[in-house]
Amino acid sequence: MHTGKANFLAVMGAQWGDEGKGKIIDFLAARADVVARFQGGNNAGHTVVVGKEVFKLHHVPSGILSPGTLCLLGSGMVINPVVLVEELAELERRGVDTGSLRISGKAHVIMDYHQALDQANEIFLGAKKIGTTGRGIGPAYADKAYRRGLRMIDFVEPERLRKRLADILPLQNRILQRVYDHPGYDLEELLERCRPASERLRPLVEDVSLLLEQQISRGKRVLFEGAQGTLLDIDHGTYPYVTASSTVSAAIGTGLGIGPHRIGEVLGVAKAYTTRVGEGPFPTEESGEQGRRLRERGFEYGTTTGRPRRCGWFDAVVARYAARVNGLTGLAVTKLDVLTGLETVRLAEGYRFRGQTIRELPVNLADLSDCEPVYRDMPGWGEELTAARSLEDLPAAARAYLEALEESVGVRVALISVGPERSQTITPPGSYLAGWQ
Ligand code: IMP
Repeated sequence: MHTGKANFLAVMGAQWGDEGKGKIIDFLAARADVVARFQGGNNAGHTVVVGKEVFKLHHVPSGILSPGTLCLLGSGMVINPVVLVEELAELERRGVDTGSLRISGKAHVIMDYHQALDQANEIFLGAKKIGTTGRGIGPAYADKAYRRGLRMIDFVEPERLRKRLADILPLQNRILQRVYDHPGYDLEELLERCRPASERLRPLVEDVSLLLEQQISRGKRVLFEGAQGTLLDIDHGTYPYVTASSTVSAAIGTGLGIGPHRIGEVLGVAKAYTTRVGEGPFPTEESGEQGRRLRERGFEYGTTTGRPRRCGWFDAVVARYAARVNGLTGLAVTKLDVLTGLETVRLAEGYRFRGQTIRELPVNLADLSDCEPVYRDMPGWGEELTAARSLEDLPAAARAYLEALEESVGVRVALISVGPERSQTITPPGSYLAGWQ
């Protein structure tokens, strides 16, 4: 029976996604009973390294790699069933038991027409595109809000699927054909394409809210796995350059059907520098040699689309904002090892904006493109960090950098990652995650 707050742990992206949440979740999942996702879909990409094996997960929580951990896909998610089935088949082919996955019947379905609409919309926008992953995420959430979405509970029941799709498809086709010059979709062909996924996923669809509440009341340890990052949140991110879901901790309640008091600690995951894929403002971006170096050393290419990530320095203003809107109680700093070899490491403590120095993000996040970072420069270090297993193993300059980061963000560092492997993780003394190992 687990009772401490840390046993109901939310793991949130504190930047623009790709912070290394997959590695952190995988590290913690070995001691978790449940890992639950509550938003997003297969726009997410988690890379998890276990020994020599590299797993790239899109829908399925990283907890699937820890045998016996119950993995839940919540009602706040959008799910592409055809892709999910492929993902499960690939995991099974590699010997991973996927029997512990359950899917909320209330989660919305991403259909082929959503993907077509997403891609056509980006082409239409041209230079003003969002830079989406092209996976149909936005149109699927839009249809949910329009009340013309298809839910997993309908998808897995052949009669309901046929009826619902017959109701929905004419309008989708009309939009595709008349607005985007797309040929549209045939009902029978679409049903045929859905059939194997519908059959495969039928036994997995359940009342996830009830399942989770039962687990919590039995004192099981739960991880809430965030996808994307705070600055990609539809409300609190750099709108319109955001994803279509709420990515902050408050979304856990609606996205899983539990009360907000069920969330204990809220761990924000942040890289020791910053990356972003897609368009939109990024004050600490380094577009020259420094950015290239971070990209090459950090292997910064999108897990879902393979796009090179934009790279820059750690932005404490962004992390401070993430701390506020998520209620962060701890920070997991990832990829610290990537900074090795730099003469100077920088972190942005504020911005110059319209002649003033500010410490918080501007009211209109679109103004971020006019913000000049105010950096604190610190001495770098030459030692490789990948073998460090405790705080004392880190060179003094790396420790000083972490302390500066902690002080500037105003949140304690609860975990440090110095490489992709589970073992390359440091739990500082006094961290509330010490009890997890
Ligand atoms: P969408 O979620 O595919 O609609 O993409 C909207 C924006 O969110 C784009 O800038 C994407 O690059 C970004 N995005 C979506 N998912 C992720 C992710 O998992 N990691 C990083 N960026 C993401």
